[in-house]
Amino acid sequence: MADSNKVAIVTGANGGLGTAMCKALSDQGRRVVGAYFPPEEEQAKKWQAAMGDAGYQVTIMPVDVSDFDSCGALVERVEQEIGPVEILVNNAGITRDAVIKKMGKHQWDAVLRTNLDSIFNMTKQVFEKMCERGFGRIVNISSLNGQKGQFGQANYSAAKAGVHGFTMAAAQEGARKGVTVNTISPGYIGTEMVMAVPEEVRAKIVGQIPVGRLGRPEEIARTVAFLADDDAGFITGANFSVNGGQYMH
Ligand code: CAA
Repeated sequence: MADSNKVAIVTGANGGLGTAMCKALSDQGRRVVGAYFPPEEEQAKKWQAAMGDAGYQVTIMPVDVSDFDSCGALVERVEQEIGPVEILVNNAGITRDAVIKKMGKHQWDAVLRTNLDSIFNMTKQVFEKMCERGFGRIVNISSLNGQKGQFGQANYSAAKAGVHGFTMAAAQEGARKGVTVNTISPGYIGTEMVMAVPEEVRAKIVGQIPVGRLGRPEEIARTVAFLADDDAGFITGANFSVNGGQYMH
């Protein structure tokens, strides 16, 4: 069990998965900073209030994870106002689905920047200091579709596959310093992102899930909390599939 009030940053905090992650980490006693995309400030404030009503005191701060300097500014602010960052959950991500024939360069770039560059942009701000202090937990959220590829998601599948490559390299660099780096690859979870997939396509996908249903955000969040635990120091460089059995490897 976690035994401390370490500071945790969750990016994409006000999304479906992020909300559950912030709750799970708060339940562990972590001081949670929920980072939101700057244009979503109004939603983020409402989200923070709703979290408060539910008994969760989460600090919110803006960050554009695709922008290196914005990530630097976030981490500096967290360190000054709250404390050293010991847990980082790189959760923010977007889809811009299209078959390659119809995919524009802007759709490719947006997904690669937000889903893959972001992992470096955020990790770079905290990694060295985690190593110096001798403790860190980094959890990168990839996807089932980074493991198996997905029709209409060349951009997303490429970025998400890259996430785990980054994890494995960073895990080796952090291993002797008490810093673990792991990937979680969620399958189809009942979030807005998945509900945006056309209904008939989604129905077919659900039909391919052995467990027979979409996942729940809490089922990803509990894996995050497990990997962020103080006692999880022997798990590093791993990729946790949480997908209802949709892809076994
Ligand atoms: N395999 C093979 N062929 C397929 C296919 C598949 N999985 N899906 C569609 N096709 C075929 C269609 O049958 C159709 O064939 P014809 O032209 O011969 O009729 C052709 O491909 C075009 O299909 P669409 O009409 O669907 O094409 P579109 O351009 O309207 O839409 C799409 C393409 C946007 C990619 C749409 O298919 C789609 O939204 N697919 C779902 C993609 C998906 O799963 N996204 C996941 C989002 S959630 C997420 O990413 C979270 C996570 O991490 C898991």
